[in-house]
Amino acid sequence: MLRVGLIGLGFMGGMHAACYKAIEGVSLTAVSDAVSENAEKIAREHNAKVFENALDLINSDEVDAVDICLPTYLHTRYAVEAMKRGKAVFIEKPVSRDLEEAELLLKTRAETGANVMVGQVIRFWDEYVWIKEAIDSKKYGDVVSVVLKRVSSLPSWAWNGWLHNDKLSGGAALDMHIHDVDYIRYILGEPGEVSSIARRDENGSMTQIFTSYKFPGGVIATSEACWDYPPDFPFCMEIRVKLEKATIVYNSAESVFAVYPNEGGSFKPELNTVTLDNRAGGNISSLGGYYNELKYFVERVSNNKPIENATLKDSVESLKLALREISAAD
Ligand SMILES: NC(=O)c1ccc[n+]([C@@H]2O[C@H](COP(=O)([O-])OP(=O)(O)OC[C@H]3O[C@@H](n4cnc5c(N)ncnc54)[C@H](O)[C@@H]3O)[C@@H](O)[C@H]2O)c1
Repeated sequence: MLRVGLIGLGFMGGMHAACYKAIEGVSLTAVSDAVSENAEKIAREHNAKVFENALDLINSDEVDAVDICLPTYLHTRYAVEAMKRGKAVFIEKPVSRDLEEAELLLKTRAETGANVMVGQVIRFWDEYVWIKEAIDSKKYGDVVSVVLKRVSSLPSWAWNGWLHNDKLSGGAALDMHIHDVDYIRYILGEPGEVSSIARRDENGSMTQIFTSYKFPGGVIATSEACWDYPPDFPFCMEIRVKLEKATIVYNSAESVFAVYPNEGGSFKPELNTVTLDNRAGGNISSLGGYYNELKYFVERVSNNKPIENATLKDSVESLKLALREISAAD
């Protein structure tokens, strides 16, 4: 049984805790949060031990792996300590706020050999997994173009408002857009040309960014990330991939997932979505990609196998591309 210690029990920490309840072979044994009620609530549900100080959790012999769901600007400090203490580490995305921290993470991983995964969850999201497999199989030929979108109303939950401080989170251009930046690298590799335009709010936080990419070989792509649409505007992630022989579309808000072959007609691909029982106290299947990524992490670490998807190295490369877009926009 893999014993996980979870640090940061806000929005994402709560979702990770629910996933651990549904995954075989893992037990959430330790939790830590700056707000003691957050820690006590999750501890009760999981029979976990509460650590007032996250560093004590990291140093505990009762923890094999540390899951870091802290605000982005705190990832590096705790991930470095966990690696040094010989723990496997899961770090939420974006891996860090800046490249200096990312370099420290890579250096520490090289020195310690720690098994590290980053929560680039779109690589584990059923529809995006299907699209990646369709592209790699070449059954619809090569990719011609890609359109990506990730939009929402203003996130309201963040602890001490950290998400809306650009220095701490990187704004929508880093925090939200990193998902599509990582996915486009995952399916197409590194772009050649990149041009971006963006908008900042009155506090300097980048709230909307549009980017155009041109890849070696000629594939073109665009993306939009924005998190200050009106309050009732639904969250939507969307991808449209035009291939030589078909176009694939996924739109989460409209529940559209379809393949349009060039010869006409359309069909909805079959997905291997895991249907889970209700042990987590809710409809855990809606946690989809989070469940899939954490299951992968638990299985890899439990079997002493290296993390090979959403690696630290890959996530740092995605951070570099997102920062390149931000400076192109500036
Ligand atoms: N993968 C995704 O889709 C996704 C979605 C949302 C957030 N995230 C990422 O998850 C991370 C956390 O975001 P969130 O939305 O859960 O933030 P949040 O503000 O909801 O939660 C952060 C928690 O950390 C706690 N905390 C702060 N400092 C602490 C410390 N020193 N020790 C212990 N606890 C501390 C806070 O009390 C709070 O409960 C961020 O990196 C964010 O980018 C990922």
